[in-house]
Amino acid sequence: MPYTLTTPLFYVNDKPHLGSTYTTIACDALARFNRYQGHDVIFITGVDEHGQKIERSAEAKNISPQQHCDEVSQVYQELWANWSMSHDRFVRTSSEIHTNIVNSFFDRINDSGDIYMGRQQGWYCIGCEEYKDVDPNLKEHKCELHQKVLEWKDEENLFFRLSRFQTQIESLINREDFIFPESRRNEIKNFVKQGLRDFSISRVNLKWGIPVPGYSEHTFYVWFDALVGYLTALFLSHTSTSLDNLGKLGWPASVHMVGKDILRFHAVYWPAMLLSAGLPIPNKLFGHGFLTREGQKMGKSLGNIIDPAELISTYGSDPIRWYLLRDIKFGSDGDFQKERLVNIVNNDLANIIGNLLNRTLSMSRKWFDNGIPLINISNIKSHILASVAEESIKSAITNYSKISFHEAAESILNLASASNIYLNESQPWKVIRTDDIQKVSEDIYCVLESTRIIGILLAPIVPELSSKIMQQLSYQFNNSNWTLDLNWGLLVPGNKLPEPQPILNKLD
Ligand code: MSP
Repeated sequence: MPYTLTTPLFYVNDKPHLGSTYTTIACDALARFNRYQGHDVIFITGVDEHGQKIERSAEAKNISPQQHCDEVSQVYQELWANWSMSHDRFVRTSSEIHTNIVNSFFDRINDSGDIYMGRQQGWYCIGCEEYKDVDPNLKEHKCELHQKVLEWKDEENLFFRLSRFQTQIESLINREDFIFPESRRNEIKNFVKQGLRDFSISRVNLKWGIPVPGYSEHTFYVWFDALVGYLTALFLSHTSTSLDNLGKLGWPASVHMVGKDILRFHAVYWPAMLLSAGLPIPNKLFGHGFLTREGQKMGKSLGNIIDPAELISTYGSDPIRWYLLRDIKFGSDGDFQKERLVNIVNNDLANIIGNLLNRTLSMSRKWFDNGIPLINISNIKSHILASVAEESIKSAITNYSKISFHEAAESILNLASASNIYLNESQPWKVIRTDDIQKVSEDIYCVLESTRIIGILLAPIVPELSSKIMQQLSYQFNNSNWTLDLNWGLLVPGNKLPEPQPILNKLD
């Protein structure tokens, strides 16, 4: 059974910012971790290209929406490549195949009797592409997220009978294994408790959308079309477009990873749409927090964004990946601070891990003929560091599985700190003078082994750094399945070690 993992499909109204990159970095780490667990991962990402927001962005540039989308989608794809994202699919909702899938999907819910024509009136946020509830006592209505004035709309739209799914959605969101983290589950429960209202799934007066079959004036509401994009992604590079085949292609999704602002669409609207279409619902949703700057959500509309392309060229991708996933509790908001990034990266990766590797490699090379000490592997099976490593491996795997990256990072750092302490206390530089070569050999071998384990456990978060550690240790990382790589005692005694190089230059 494949492990299908999705990022949200990003709006292409503008180029990506660090907030949008954050979700993809997290998904990438989760995808890599699951591959190492031996799962057949389908990691989906892509762009959401329709709707008023994008139509207006194209207008402002005086180009066609399609040309605008082509340009911005390209920027996303290049950026993801620069960040070494390991996605398997990149879906675009302006593609022809997507139109076909959306139409088949619509046919199914129409056949279920869940579509009707109605009138939609209300205050609309173009940033969110969503109607908002407002305080009728106020003169002007603003979107809290985008700080933009809402627009009044009054249109004839097609509606989806969401209200019919009240009981099913309630029991779904009450499940303890559906919405994570728990705090977000409660937010959704409160929303659903108020009673689900039918929502409009088409727009009139909007050209830049997929035409609704049989309703020439209407195009699909961008959220309706975008959610179906997850299904389209599974059909890319397949000849069939029949929704009946979804089960064979990797549906339902194992995890939809989304920001907290769009959790409701995924936890309520999307499952109801799928139920209506007679398709399985996703297994799990994870609603992460926002990256903020001075407490405010980082966003294009607020103009407080950090350009990920600029950031990567200053610091490189691994340091930023590390900072974001190690420092911010995944699920909560986190304030992005450059000074903190520099301190965390220098301390963890350069000082704790980098120095551990560097000094052990130097000792090993100096005392053991430029190589790994010649030891008898059976002698080091019960070394104290073997049990510390075992604990770290267990807790790192548990934490990665829980999608708790900051705790996984801590589990790894614990092994590095324990190894540093072990070196300081066992003082091999003194013991080497006493002729107890066997003890020094075994100690040095075990610290090298610890750094190998550290390097492997780091691979989902900082893949480039991890492979540098492997090179330094002359270890051929199996890379496909951790169960082989995480055994204790795999470094080959006597193998030559290259001259130590810093795995990371300290950041300024
Ligand atoms: N197009 C919709 C998603 C459709 S999914 C079928 C959308 N796009 S978005 O580009 O506005 O946002 C994409 C993701 O980026 C969302 O999960 C959103 O929460 C996330 N982020 C945008 N700004 C963010 C931060 N400042 N911090 C963290 N994530 C943020 O919504």
